[in-house]
Amino acid sequence: MDYKNKEDICAHLGDDYSRFLGAIVPPIFQTTLFTNTDKHGYVYTRVSNPTTEIVEGKIAALEEGEAAKCFSSGMAAISAAIMRAVRTGSHVICPITVYGGTKHFLTDYLPRFQVETTFVPGDSIEDFERAIRPNTHLIYLESPSSNLFALQDLQALAQLARERGITTIADNTWATPLYQNPLALGIDMVVHSASKYLGGHSDVTAGAAAGKSSIMNELAGQERQLYGAVMDPHSSWLLLRGIRTLPVRMSQHQESAMKAARFLEAHPKVERVFYPGLPSHPQYDLGLKQMTGYTGLLSFMPIGRPERIIEAVKSMRYFQFGPSWGGFESLVMTYGMGASKEETDRMGIPGGLVRISVGLEHAESLLEDLEHALSKI
Ligand SMILES: Cc1ncc(COP(=O)(O)O)c(C=O)c1O
Repeated sequence: MDYKNKEDICAHLGDDYSRFLGAIVPPIFQTTLFTNTDKHGYVYTRVSNPTTEIVEGKIAALEEGEAAKCFSSGMAAISAAIMRAVRTGSHVICPITVYGGTKHFLTDYLPRFQVETTFVPGDSIEDFERAIRPNTHLIYLESPSSNLFALQDLQALAQLARERGITTIADNTWATPLYQNPLALGIDMVVHSASKYLGGHSDVTAGAAAGKSSIMNELAGQERQLYGAVMDPHSSWLLLRGIRTLPVRMSQHQESAMKAARFLEAHPKVERVFYPGLPSHPQYDLGLKQMTGYTGLLSFMPIGRPERIIEAVKSMRYFQFGPSWGGFESLVMTYGMGASKEETDRMGIPGGLVRISVGLEHAESLLEDLEHALSKI
């Protein structure tokens, strides 16, 4: 059955009750192999698995793409998609504020295949246009980007790339397919860390890529099958459980994050807040053009000595000090505290940053926790 609303896709698409004895939750096909392939087409879980295919159907529909393929982590999806787009001697263009793991892959791993990357600030089309070389085969985007939540104009960059025969990939983890659909704006491949909002419970490490069926079939048949970073059926099942509640979780994350962003923006001990949902964000209008909502991850620059800031955030009650984001729980992390200008430039951040992932606890509890921490700085 077809579903046009995203809530219905999350709740029902592909959960074929008649196929699974009326079970409201499809079973986990926790098996490595399938016999009698001629009867159903399944052979081996590294190639395909019925539980994983249900998630892939949901993610493809949510992303408004023809197909999706799931991977064992976000980095597995990202590295596979990049390897699909480049060949020996290729040149890549990427915003400097891209996720650290992706930057690591582009900077430290790909040069062994003579693949070189130019990092650009990312907020103007001209930056990308100027960086294009005859061997540019990939423009890799992440909008909003990590830590600073800077945007790139996805539609304009997709058009620029298409005119030059360059592939585009966009990491859509922050916005989720509920609030942004890069494929509909002309991007060739979307990648996700499903370990964040799609999973939503901080109990599954997973990734996904979506795009045209022809590209996705090549990606699954080559990079996924050969590197073997396929999602395991139990993770697929957990991811399905997460996706069912994605719309309600995201509206709560958005509501509470907006309150936190406004609170921080008005606070005398905060110099600057980075959140695309605030009208003060320098690319607010671009956000309105290409996104339909905002999520729960934001950052700010507190005014104070780095060691006091670190001490204060480590003493928070609800915001636990730790990496990652996108789960039910609130988290806090610092970046570049006390670092030299050279280091923060390399990270693409202006100075010491505090990043918060606003979870599903009561918004008042979270604001009190922030006030308490700021009062200590
Ligand atoms: C924006 C973004 N993309 C990709 C990843 C990598 O995903 P994973 O940790 O699932 O490999 C992360 C992880 O933090 C991320 O923040």
